[in-house]
Amino acid sequence: MSLMTEQLVTITATVNGDQVTMHVPAHRTLLEALRDLMGLTGTKSCCTEGECGACTVLLNGLTACSCLVLAAEVDGAEIVTIEGLAALDLQENFVAKGAVQCGFCTPGQIVSAHALLAQNPNPSEQDIREHMSGNLCRCGSYKRIIEAIQTTAEGRRNA
Ligand code: FES
Ligand code: FES
Repeated sequence: MSLMTEQLVTITATVNGDQVTMHVPAHRTLLEALRDLMGLTGTKSCCTEGECGACTVLLNGLTACSCLVLAAEVDGAEIVTIEGLAALDLQENFVAKGAVQCGFCTPGQIVSAHALLAQNPNPSEQDIREHMSGNLCRCGSYKRIIEAIQTTAEGRRNA
């Protein structure tokens, strides 16, 4: 069905620091609005059922699966996607530690890791495992992802 023929809802939200007004079909998800209407394709679409974490964004400062949120629900919200994240050190450490294999899960992993380090600058391995449990990696890079997060945390503490 064409987006143009569907009933549209007008929302205004802050996306990566910019206030944007979107006309979104009432039943479309935030994930679809980000990717299809705004061209923010760094947020990945995979299971679309809240199971894999590939679509993770920050919604009012907390991680959220954008495939489970209706775009119409985010009127007035603050959204940060991987494109708007100031986390170069995390990205560099994911690469340096070999935590990026196919890379499909990586944006969601980095958004989740960023949220973890914002609330806990010195997470234990168990803290990391628990916080990241909603982000699946089909390439099995979990150990390297943990190392990348630990290295980033250590770097920030020593900065
Ligand atoms: S695409 Fe949203 S959790 Fe998998
Ligand atoms: S790096 Fe391939 S799914 Fe995680």
